[in-house]
Amino acid sequence: METRIFENKTEDLKAAAELIRGGETVVFPTETVYGLGANALDSLAVKKIFAAKGRPSDNPLIVHIADFEDAEQFAKDIPETAKALAEKFCPGPLTMIFKKKDCIPSEVSAGLDTVGIRIPKDETARAFLKECGVPVAAPSANLSGRPSPTSFSHAFCDMNGKVSGIIKGEDSEVGVESTVLDMTAEVPTILRPGGVSREEIEEVLGKVLISSELKKDDIPKAPGMKYKHYSPKGQVYILKGENEKREEFIKKRSYVTSVAVIAFDEMVNADFGDARVLSFGSDKSPEDAAHRLFDILRECDDLGAREIYAPEIPDDGLWRAVKNRLYKAAGARIIDAETAKSVLFVCTGNTCRSPMAEGIFNISGKNAVSASAGLFAAGGKASENAICAAAELGADIKNHESQQLTYEMLENSDIVLTMTESHKASIPDKYNVQTIAEFVGDMGGIADPYGGDVEIYRKCAIQLKDLIERMKL
Ligand code: TXA
Ligand code: MG
Repeated sequence: METRIFENKTEDLKAAAELIRGGETVVFPTETVYGLGANALDSLAVKKIFAAKGRPSDNPLIVHIADFEDAEQFAKDIPETAKALAEKFCPGPLTMIFKKKDCIPSEVSAGLDTVGIRIPKDETARAFLKECGVPVAAPSANLSGRPSPTSFSHAFCDMNGKVSGIIKGEDSEVGVESTVLDMTAEVPTILRPGGVSREEIEEVLGKVLISSELKKDDIPKAPGMKYKHYSPKGQVYILKGENEKREEFIKKRSYVTSVAVIAFDEMVNADFGDARVLSFGSDKSPEDAAHRLFDILRECDDLGAREIYAPEIPDDGLWRAVKNRLYKAAGARIIDAETAKSVLFVCTGNTCRSPMAEGIFNISGKNAVSASAGLFAAGGKASENAICAAAELGADIKNHESQQLTYEMLENSDIVLTMTESHKASIPDKYNVQTIAEFVGDMGGIADPYGGDVEIYRKCAIQLKDLIERMKL
């Protein structure tokens, strides 16, 4: 599909709006993140959004309009409290959920009887929405699973060729998505922390709830919150601890090609060895962190970072939105710089057994990081069947690159685990090497599944998982 690029000028915005009214998709800037829009009243147009993003259709879309007064055309039972909130935060990074009117198709609400309404503040977005004259359903304009786009170049990278138009605007000022506030709940409930903080909302409404603080079955959360999101290709870790310990820990990971550190300015002059340092702004400024976060996560991919270390994030105000995104990217992997172990798995070619072990270990919730290498590694990805068998156990190793074992790796790992006795025998005794079975008090090796069918790989992966679960570090 040819994608037209529009500038922020009247005739371009008119042309883009015409595409929307004609049932096509257009990406537009907002102050939170770029959105991927289509006419919210046109089911067929809305379906094109899901197709362009590769998004599951059980995830509802936010409806964007230029003026809060128009909300009544699409939502019913709008309470007075919502009007008070709108007064303060609309236009702005707040989405309110109301009961929907029938004109909103189920493709937008993903079958729910509610609709999320947002009035963006970004001037280009407002001018565009006014030209559209119809409500515009729009999720963030990233490919599903990728960090949300906060600049034209991010949006172009993900959506060129997949949508009819992209409006080129400024970088998103806020940088994290809107706060999603459920106004249909008995006590208004934040389903997704975002650009407007709980404290700011409470100043207007009094006490509100946050869905993550509720018991699991109390309330359906925003369906979107259950998906893996915001993830760069490398593994993100939240690294706790004193600055010095963190520095030391990251420095010892220098052998990994490559490591990125997301660091507050107060820490950017620390010695992180070979790691690339990405500035998160001052630790006093959640605004800076929010503004930079998604750009940083994308940069980690551009750098080809395998491991990404991020700091702990406070739990109040706008920090909560930053924390929510970053900890999701980390898949809740929080490790302690002082006590976390670094584990190295070794096999022959680093395409089957050791990458599966590394992947499975990385989702086991241990206070540790792991890497893998081969005694005779020739480069390349993990084998198809290894990727498949690991995926069945929830481990994603499709980005793995096979690497040759080096002395530097051995020297900088706390624990080296081989698949077999013969691997172990190839490594000098002075390193703390054991077979993976020996480490948990078992005997025997992990047979090489190389060349076998997927069932053989499956057995191997399950055997590794069992051993990893029994590891005490
Ligand atoms: O800042 C934003 O909100 C951006 C810009 C483009 O406006 N949009 C955005 O949309 O982030 P999206 O689709 O990526 O995320 C919308 C979130 C999802 O978690 C979704 O499940 C939730 O809002 N949501 C939308 N409608 C809902 C509804 N009726 N009930 C519950 N949750 C809803
Ligand atoms: Mg999104």
